[in-house]
Amino acid sequence: MSLKNLYLKTIGCQMNVYDSDQIANKLKPLGYRMTTAWENADLIIANTCTIREKAEQKAFSFLGRLASLKRKRPDIIIGIGGCLAQQEGKKILERMPQIDLVFGTHAISRLPQIISRLESQRFRLVDIEMSETIDEFEPVVDLQAHQKVTSFVTIMQGCDNYCTYCVVPYVRGRETSRDPDSIVSEIKSLVNSGVSEVTLLGQNVNSYGKKEGLCSFSNLLSILNRIDGLKRIRFTTSHPKDLSFDLINSFDNLNKLCHHIHLPLQSGANRILKRMHRKYSIELYLKKIEELRKLCPDIAITSDIIAGFPGETESDFKETIDVIKEVEFDGLYAFMYSDRPNALSIRFPGKISEPVKQARLQRILDVQEQFTLKKNMMLVGSTELVLVEGVSKKQSGAEALPENQDLELTGRTFTNKIVNFNCGNSRAGCGKEILGKNYIGKMVNIRIEKAFSHSLRGTLVKKNQSILV
Ligand code: SAH
Ligand code: SF4
Ligand code: F3S
Repeated sequence: MSLKNLYLKTIGCQMNVYDSDQIANKLKPLGYRMTTAWENADLIIANTCTIREKAEQKAFSFLGRLASLKRKRPDIIIGIGGCLAQQEGKKILERMPQIDLVFGTHAISRLPQIISRLESQRFRLVDIEMSETIDEFEPVVDLQAHQKVTSFVTIMQGCDNYCTYCVVPYVRGRETSRDPDSIVSEIKSLVNSGVSEVTLLGQNVNSYGKKEGLCSFSNLLSILNRIDGLKRIRFTTSHPKDLSFDLINSFDNLNKLCHHIHLPLQSGANRILKRMHRKYSIELYLKKIEELRKLCPDIAITSDIIAGFPGETESDFKETIDVIKEVEFDGLYAFMYSDRPNALSIRFPGKISEPVKQARLQRILDVQEQFTLKKNMMLVGSTELVLVEGVSKKQSGAEALPENQDLELTGRTFTNKIVNFNCGNSRAGCGKEILGKNYIGKMVNIRIEKAFSHSLRGTLVKKNQSILV
C-alpha cells in the first residue's frame, strides 16, 4: 500500500476536533498520513461548522481557495464533512465544481469505503444519511508523534432542545448517549497511551443517559473518577435547565473533576430566554450559580451570550449587562445573532440591525473584560497545580530554540486558566519535545506572578521544594 497525504482542515467546536481525529484514524489503514501542506495532499478534507453565519463563510472561503489547486491537480480528492456539509448536501456540489465528496456528521464510519471507491473510480458523491445509533470508533491514541496530554471524548451526539436560534439539532440529529462501558474503555486506552486529562463532550452533557435509561451524568463522572492514571476530568457543555444538584455536588465529591463549568446564559432577560426556548428563568440560573459557588467556592464559571436576538430591546439588553455584572464570570464568549437555516428564529420579527448588534456585542466584551482580568489577578501570589500540556504557543513554531533562550511551557490550572512558565531549560539545537519531556504531562506547582486577560504567568516551584506529582 502506497503512502498518501491527507490535509485535514477543522473549523468549529471541540466536537469537530474529536471527529477530525476519528477521520484521520479511519483513513490510516488506506495509507493516509497527515500533511500540513495542502499542495502535497492527495486528499483534502474540510470538517466544517455552521453554528453562525461567520463559520459558514469561513468554510466556503476555504473551499473557494481550493478551486485553483483542483484545476492544477485534478487527481486530488476534495471532501467536505461536518455540520455545513450536513446542512447543504448536494447544493455544495452544484455550487463548487472542485468538490468531489460531501459527507455529513453521521457518515464518518463509512468514509474509508467511500474514499477507496473514489480512489479507483472518479465520481461525485453525497452521503448525508443520519441515524439514531452512535457509531463507535477505535480510540485515537497515536495521532501526534509527541505525547498527547489531554483529549476530547464525545459522550453523546446530537441535541433535542431546539433552542430557536440554533442549527445543531438539524445538523447533528437527535440526542443519543454513548454506552458508559465504551466511554470507560476509550478513556482507559487514552490513559494507557499517556493521556492525563479528558474533556467529555456533548451539546448538553447534563441530560446524558436520560433518554436511553443509562446512568446519569453525575454517575458517569463518578465511574470515570475511579479510572487509575486519569488525573483530571473536564466537560462541556452544560444546559442550565438540566444542571442537577447531584452534578453540582460532584464538584465537591470527585477529586479529579476540575473546578470549571461552562454554563451558557444566552440572555439576561426572561422575555428573550422564553423566545429562545431555553426553558429556564434568570432567577433559576442565578440560583444554580449560587449553589455551585456554595459547594465549590473556587469554581470558575464561563458562559455564552448572544447579542441582538430578534426582538431584543435596549431594556432586555440592559438586563443582560446587569446579570454579567452580578455573576462576574471568569470568561465569556459573546456572539452577534445570525439567522440559521431551519432555526425557528429565522421567522421571528424584530430583527436587530448589524450596527446595533455590533455595538451590543462590544459593550458585552467591554463589561466582561474587567471581570476576566479581576479573576485572573486574584490568583497572583498563589501557587497553582498546573497540568503541563506542552510548549507555549509563542515558541511552538520553530524546531530548535535559539541559544540561551529558556523553554516556555504551557498548561492549565484546575480552574481551566492558561498558565505559561519558564522551565529554566536552555540548550541550543535541542528539540523542544526533548527539553520539555520531564514536564509535559506532569502536574507542577507554579507560583503565579502576573495576570493578563487570557492567561497567567508564573514560575516553577523548584524540585527540591517537591513539585512533580
Ligand atoms: N449546546 C450548547 C451550545 C452550542 S453552540 C448550549 O446549549 O449552550 C455554541 C454557542 O453558539 C451557543 O451557546 C450560542 O451562544 C451561540 N450560537 C448558537 N446559534 C447562534 C446563532 N444563530 N447566532 C449567534 N450565536 C449562536
Ligand atoms: Fe443548540 Fe440549544 Fe442544543 Fe445547545 S441546547 S446545541 S444551543 S439547540
Ligand atoms: Fe459547529 Fe457543528 Fe459544532 S455547527 S459548533 S461544528 S456541532
